[in-house]
Amino acid sequence: MSAETLRANGQESILPISITDHILNEQRHHPEATGALTSIMLGLARVARRISKTAREAESSGAYGLTGEINVQGEKVIKLDKQANDLFKEVMSKDPHVAGFASEEETTFVPFKPDPKRKYVLWFDPLDGSSNFDTSVTIGSIFSIYQRVSSVEESVNEADFLQKGREQVGAGYFVFGFDTKLVYTTGNGVFNFNLDSSGEFVLSKELPQIVTPEESMYYSVNEAYSPQWFPHVVAFVEMLKTMPEKPCSARYAGSLVTDFHRNLLKGGVYLYLSDKKHPEGKLRLNCELNPLAFIAEQAGGRATNGEMDILDIQPTSLHQRSPVVIGSKNEVNAFLKSK
Ligand code: AHG
Ligand code: MN
Ligand code: MN
Repeated sequence: MSAETLRANGQESILPISITDHILNEQRHHPEATGALTSIMLGLARVARRISKTAREAESSGAYGLTGEINVQGEKVIKLDKQANDLFKEVMSKDPHVAGFASEEETTFVPFKPDPKRKYVLWFDPLDGSSNFDTSVTIGSIFSIYQRVSSVEESVNEADFLQKGREQVGAGYFVFGFDTKLVYTTGNGVFNFNLDSSGEFVLSKELPQIVTPEESMYYSVNEAYSPQWFPHVVAFVEMLKTMPEKPCSARYAGSLVTDFHRNLLKGGVYLYLSDKKHPEGKLRLNCELNPLAFIAEQAGGRATNGEMDILDIQPTSLHQRSPVVIGSKNEVNAFLKSK
């Protein structure tokens, strides 16, 4: 966002622009706004501050290691997965606007105390990239906000959590690396915040608004699966490596949020497709792909499952997986043409 735009939005200030200032300003354009999104975002920021601190002090806080449980995805749960999930649950259950949530770490959705004022539901991947945590590789948390479709007089039901990604009213992620970032959208561009030393998320001065390059400089894929890839995927990845003008370089951290964030900033395409061993890919539509697809589109990129835009898929089950190609528009379009 240029200085002129910030000024036009009444946002130029010698004081840092906090997440609260930013959302309140965004809501000036929505007279119907009730303050719900502000409250939800502040709750999310509070949880992220806590995860960031726990992760940073993992050795002394006992956050390393496994809980011994296997989650609904069939994956080993690490202690920080559970701690992050419990933090989101506790903080969101106290938010007067949130009617319930669903999470990668919960078998089914979790209803909160019925109350007609609770009009929103949330989806979380409380900790993404958990298998990287004990090696100090960047991890993150992903969130997605919907208005409930069930009657506010009743408890939430499954349909509230099976909405198309296109229905999201907000989405974003936190990145826990050597610093902590918040990237979010409410459908009016993608904004970029840093956690400062006072514990406040403040709008980045360097890059307040993220617009992703149209062309990829990088591709991210787990190339170890190439023996199982279908021929069109092999050919597409080969094409990325051999583009005459500017062949792509490879980056794959193995934390989706980390790979996605890097590609968003630098220009890149991330692939996790179906192959002979992963018939639906691996990534979860509701808690991972929809929020990142919303961010990608709002930043000028694109996300597809190979047949349709991720945001247009009608989810049919809570933990369904989907193939994905997400990132810079030109390469996502090229993938669709190559099929
Ligand atoms: P999570 O830590 O939330 O379970 O997600 C792990 C995901 C994603 O972050 C990552 O990109 C992907 O798994 C890596 O899978 P592979 O090891 O199969 O490449
Ligand atoms: Mn994940
Ligand atoms: Mn996770």
